[in-house]
Amino acid sequence: MPYSVTLIPGDGIGPEVTDATLQVLEATGVDFEWERFEEVGTAAVEAGRDELPREVLESIRENQVALKGPVTTPVGEGFTSVNVQLRQKLDLYANVRPCQNLPGLETPFDDVDLIVFRENTEGLYAGVENFDERLQIADSIARVTRRGSERIIRFCFEYAKKHGRKKVTLAHKANILKSSTGLFLEVGEATAPEYAGTVEYEDRIIDNMAMQLVMYPQQYDCIVTTNLFGDILSDLGAGLIGGLGVTAGANIGDDEAVFEAVHGSAPDIAGEGKANPTALLRTAVMMLEHLDEDEAARAVEDAVFAAYRDGEVLTPDVGGTASTGEFAAHVAERVA
Ligand code: NAI
Ligand code: MG
Repeated sequence: MPYSVTLIPGDGIGPEVTDATLQVLEATGVDFEWERFEEVGTAAVEAGRDELPREVLESIRENQVALKGPVTTPVGEGFTSVNVQLRQKLDLYANVRPCQNLPGLETPFDDVDLIVFRENTEGLYAGVENFDERLQIADSIARVTRRGSERIIRFCFEYAKKHGRKKVTLAHKANILKSSTGLFLEVGEATAPEYAGTVEYEDRIIDNMAMQLVMYPQQYDCIVTTNLFGDILSDLGAGLIGGLGVTAGANIGDDEAVFEAVHGSAPDIAGEGKANPTALLRTAVMMLEHLDEDEAARAVEDAVFAAYRDGEVLTPDVGGTASTGEFAAHVAERVA
């Protein structure tokens, strides 16, 4: 039986990196039946539809797994981010963003291996916003709940335990944002003792955490944090390992999982064949693992690693001259 998976290529570089990824997945021999939705976000709105058409959500609920390219969000006005809506409507509370060096790709450190677990449904992204026109005062409320904190923190610890990882670091700003991130820290402290002896626990204040990460990233393993901090730290983590072109991600809930890279639609390079599909390929590796297709996952990961190790066919963001399609073909050839 083929895996029925919802596919959202997205816009900007989305279709380019999606086609590249499908080409490599095809080489694994795993049988997928893609339910493809081209019109999402701006394309849907221009066609007179809702930015997140109902059948897209229904498809994901039915298939429980989706592979998604980036979708552009208008800045300051227009529709609410489709990406954020998907995470909230499907209650995909865990945003998992691994940052691991690629062999042969030179970066400031060669031994980064950390994973950012970002709370994905609340915090400053809860959409509790108000603008008082008369007084010209803008409010964005950071909503943190005990339930929301418990489930992401537990998810992180469980992941660490299952994957033999050593440490969880909780990043917060509880010295200033005593209420919201204070609650998050309190839940972390209450949960950690359950994993004592298996997974070590510590906490860091977010600004110090950012400094520590650019100086001593090797000290970090699993990092769990609230929504906005996680958004920022995961881009920082991406920067440590070669940029947004190489960093994978997944949005996971109790029932559904939407696999999408950390990067956005990159309008500055869209349509030029310069986009690096490595991020979405590593995202596809996470999806294969989620489907228990471990052999195929290793085959894709090894093929990507081999391409970086020999370094002859790489995209411009990582120092090469190859196009998206050339890199994809090169990786696909190496999938055993
Ligand atoms: P971005 O991630 O699209 O681009 C930031 C920089 O990284 C750009 O210079 C871009 O060229 C480069 N870059 C990103 N991905 C790359 C890749 N695969 N290969 C080579 N270079 C790559 O972030 P930006 O510019 O802040 O956002 C652009 C749009 O994407 C916005 O509308 C934003 O809302 C949306 N976005 C969507 C996301 C999603 O669908 N999950 C996530 C982040 C942003
Ligand atoms: Mg981001």
